[in-house]
Order: sequence, then C-alpha cells, then structure tokens
Amino acid sequence: MSRQLRILVTGGAGFIGSHYVRRLVRGAYPAFAGAAVVVLDKLTYAGTEAALEPVAGDERLRLVIGDICDADLLDDLLPGTDVVVHFAAESHVDRSITGAAEFVRTNVEGTHTLLRACRNAGVGRFVQVSTDEVYGSIAEGSWREDQPLDPSSPYSASKASADLLALAYHRTYGLPVCVTRCSNNYGPYQFPEKMIPLFVTNLLDGGTVPLYGSGHNVREWLHVDDHCRGVQLVAEAGRPGTVYHVGGGTELTNRELTSLLLRELGADWQDAVRPAPDRPGHDLRYSIDDTRIRTELGYRPRIDFRTGLADTVRWYAENRSWWEPLKIRAAVGGAVTAPARGA
Ligand SMILES: NC(=O)c1ccc[n+]([C@@H]2O[C@H](COP(=O)([O-])OP(=O)(O)OC[C@H]3O[C@@H](n4cnc5c(N)ncnc54)[C@H](O)[C@@H]3O)[C@@H](O)[C@H]2O)c1
Repeated sequence: MSRQLRILVTGGAGFIGSHYVRRLVRGAYPAFAGAAVVVLDKLTYAGTEAALEPVAGDERLRLVIGDICDADLLDDLLPGTDVVVHFAAESHVDRSITGAAEFVRTNVEGTHTLLRACRNAGVGRFVQVSTDEVYGSIAEGSWREDQPLDPSSPYSASKASADLLALAYHRTYGLPVCVTRCSNNYGPYQFPEKMIPLFVTNLLDGGTVPLYGSGHNVREWLHVDDHCRGVQLVAEAGRPGTVYHVGGGTELTNRELTSLLLRELGADWQDAVRPAPDRPGHDLRYSIDDTRIRTELGYRPRIDFRTGLADTVRWYAENRSWWEPLKIRAAVGGAVTAPARGA
C-alpha cells in the first residue's frame, strides 16, 4: 500500500486558502485524494475557523493555530510533508500603506522561515502563492512571467521579496519551488474589507459604497475556485523553479464593477456610491498573460464572471452569520474607504 500523501497548507483559514482546503478535502483534486492535510494558520483578523467548518469533521484535516515565523513549530510540523502550499500572508494593500511592518514580518520573514524549514525537512514541493501586483501597473498589453518586478505598495513589495526568496531557494538549494501569480479573486469567505465583499455587504445593509478616485482603475477578476485549480495544477505538475500566471478572469474598471454590483443588489448609483480619496501609489491596471499554465498544465478558468458574481452575492446574503461579526470587530464598512485588494 502506498504511503498517505501529506500536504501542509499555510493560511488555510483565510479566503483563498480555505477554499483550496475545502475543495481538497472534499476530493476535488483526484491526484491528492485521501491526503492528510495540515492547515497552519495564525488566525489573524483575516482568518476564521468558520471558513473550515464545512470540512471540520474530516479526520484527515488538522488545524494548527500558529505562526509561519515560528521556526521551532515548523521544524516540528514539516518532517514527512510532501507538498507545502503557501497562502499565508498579510494581504490587504490599504493596511500595508498604514502599517508595512507586519507585511515584512509575515510575507518576507515568514516565507523565509518556512522555506528554510522546508529545506531542512526535505519537502518534496513548495508552491508560493503570489500576485500579479508584483509587476506594478501596465497601461496596455499583458505581462509574461519574465517581466521585471516593479511593485508599488508595501504589500506587493513584500510579496515580490517572498517570490524572489522562494526562487532563490530553488536555485541555491534545489528546493522544488514553483510560484503562482494570480489576478484579483472573488468568491465566498472573503474578508469584508476587500472590494466585492465590502460593497456587497454594505449594500445588503442598505448602506453606501466608497469608490476610490475616478474609479477608472482596471482589475481582472477571477473566481477563487479557478485560482485554486490553477494552484493545484502547479502543485501536481509545475516545473520546479518556474513562475506560472493564473488568469483568464474578466477585466473591469472599478466603476464597471460597481455598476454590476449595484444592479445585482437593486441599488442606485446616486444614492449608494460615495467618492473616496484615491489610494497613494494606486496602480492603474494589472493584466497577466497565462499562456504558460494553459499550454503546460492544461489550465482553463471555468466560472463565467456574471454567474460567479451572482452566486457570490447570494452567498453573502445567505451567510450573514459569517461576515457580520467580522465587520463589527474590524469596524469596516462605514469608516474604512478601502475598496479592494489592489483595486
Ligand atoms: N485575494 C486575492 O485577490 C489574491 C490574488 C492573488 C494572490 N493572492 C495571494 O493569495 C494568498 C491568500 O490571499 P487571501 O486573499 O486568501 O488572504 P487572506 O488575508 O484572506 O488570508 C490570509 C491568511 O493567512 C493567515 N496568516 C496571516 N499571517 C500569518 C502568519 N504569520 N502565520 C500563519 N498564518 C498567517 C491569516 O490568518 C489568514 O487566514 C496571499 O498570499 C495573497 O498574496 C491573493
């Protein structure tokens, strides 16, 4: 009988990590069927045990509440691990502008501590989950994976640093690292400070939504399930030392997205949209070329944006018990003028 595969997922109680874990444990990724899954998550303001509740009873899943900066904990957890999928990060651009230190600690030092522990333990594969924001802003066309990094915010600079450290661990020590860089995600369980859940939950409460600057900033929106399938393809068969873009979402200006959300929720622009001062260093447009992951690994996004958005709006309408306490605790919605991760 072959040995049970062991997967460690960092940040597995956050938005994207928890989606990945729920899909993994429910058998959506046949190559990892039956795997033992350890989630390592610090449960910061952005992580909730409730996001894992749908699979919490599964005996193959273990949640370890801990910090990726804790080298001793990692040295205990990692031996025998086949694959590490690294989602844990401070992820909100606006928070990085008001307090960059935590981003450097978790995203740079934490990733390095994890890489070192993976090297010590001889981990078989490491997926560094990253973002299109590491390239800065692009007026026209789309970035390929060899584009030089030119990040604008402390968030994207910390992710770029982490990506470079991960790739250096491959080149220097032979750790089998792959990096994924994805565009803006949307879907269930996203913390209600990011554009789509912030706008949806404000509108569900009959409130207003803050639109940054002119609203002409362009983002490419991809459903979290498509992102997680891309990450999984890379975890299974990515070439070590290689960066893969995960894209194929829908490009929209923030004004266009706001109009769609207002329509979904039956609200009116005049009453519901309030202008907010623009974010410093606000990138105008991101756009990635994902030819590599399509041709090498057969990636295709599956979820049509309008369908995915309608499902997402419905999910927030039906799951107030998840987001209401988070909004109260973080005091977001009225006071915070923060439309989006990078949006
Ligand atoms: N959200 C997006 O649109 C998007 C797009 C591309 C890439 N990404 C990347 O995907 C990853 C996940 O993003 P997300 O939106 O799910 O973020 P998130 O903020 O929702 O979740 C991050 C998770 O990491 C945990 N965490 C934070 N610091 C930690 C630490 N020191 N030790 C252990 N756990 C810690 C948090 O508790 C939380 O559960 C990030 O690396 C992000 O850069 C996000």
